[in-house]
Amino acid sequence: MSVISIETVDRIAWVTLQRPEKLNALNTEVLKELDCAFAGLEHDEKVGVVVVTGAGEKAFVAGADIGELRELDSASARRQGLAGQAVFNRIEQMPKPVLAMVNGFALGGGCELALACHVRVASETARFGLPEVSLGIIPGYGGTQRLPRLVGKGVALDMILSGDLVGAADALRIGLVSRVFPAAELKAGTEKLARTLLSRGPLALRQALTAVHQGLEMPLEQGLQFEAALFGLLAATEDMKEGMAAFLEKRPAQFKGL
Ligand code: COA
Repeated sequence: MSVISIETVDRIAWVTLQRPEKLNALNTEVLKELDCAFAGLEHDEKVGVVVVTGAGEKAFVAGADIGELRELDSASARRQGLAGQAVFNRIEQMPKPVLAMVNGFALGGGCELALACHVRVASETARFGLPEVSLGIIPGYGGTQRLPRLVGKGVALDMILSGDLVGAADALRIGLVSRVFPAAELKAGTEKLARTLLSRGPLALRQALTAVHQGLEMPLEQGLQFEAALFGLLAATEDMKEGMAAFLEKRPAQFKGL
């Protein structure tokens, strides 16, 4: 890997985009390496939680690489959009939690990358936006679909049509992020959250992700049936027995993912 680094410490994999001189803009190489990284992390038993972030002080990811975008024609733009979407779909469909640790600008494809992650946490200095219309295009890596599903159609259309940037406090207010930390505490705060997730039942986390992602695409009654089926599956696991025994015995649970 040359434009992404992966460091795994105590079951947390830190995936860092490493193009700080270009504000970590997503070029073809970054997308390829991200795809490859997540393919590996999905099956890596030493990893329980993944954190995605950008190198440097200034940016998480400042968007798709505009130098590459300007070369696209109609057919290649469609292919590029689908290829980027496929990478972000892989991230969203990860069976273990993926956190976006947004440390600066998360614009265009960077905002879309954060949207594909399961939980978004940000530093007070983070800024979000989908400024594509100012380039004469629309968001192409899922932004027009995931943003309205997350924050509602009205706020999403405001962001998509105006291209205006949103600061961390407003991102928290509209539900685009769920936690904001002072810049100096971002890493520690993210790590603490990751450790909390690691202490939970891994099979439960997996099924919770499935229930929310797949269930949201269903009518309510079908989604509730789906939830009940997954709830039933978990009742057959060793982890459930352990979780409940640990509670009753007033000790931390030792989940095995079985
Ligand atoms: N694609 C390619 N290169 C990018 C980029 C992107 N999306 N975003 C930033 N860069 C590059 C700049 O071209 C510059 O490279 P250079 O030093 O070789 O000229 C470098 O990163 C630093 O960016 P710069 O614009 O000088 O920083 P700034 O602090 O003045 O502004 C931003 C920061 C984020 C406001 C500004 O870079 C920006 O608007 N970027 C594009 C955002 C965007 O439209 N994203 C959606 C793309 S679909």
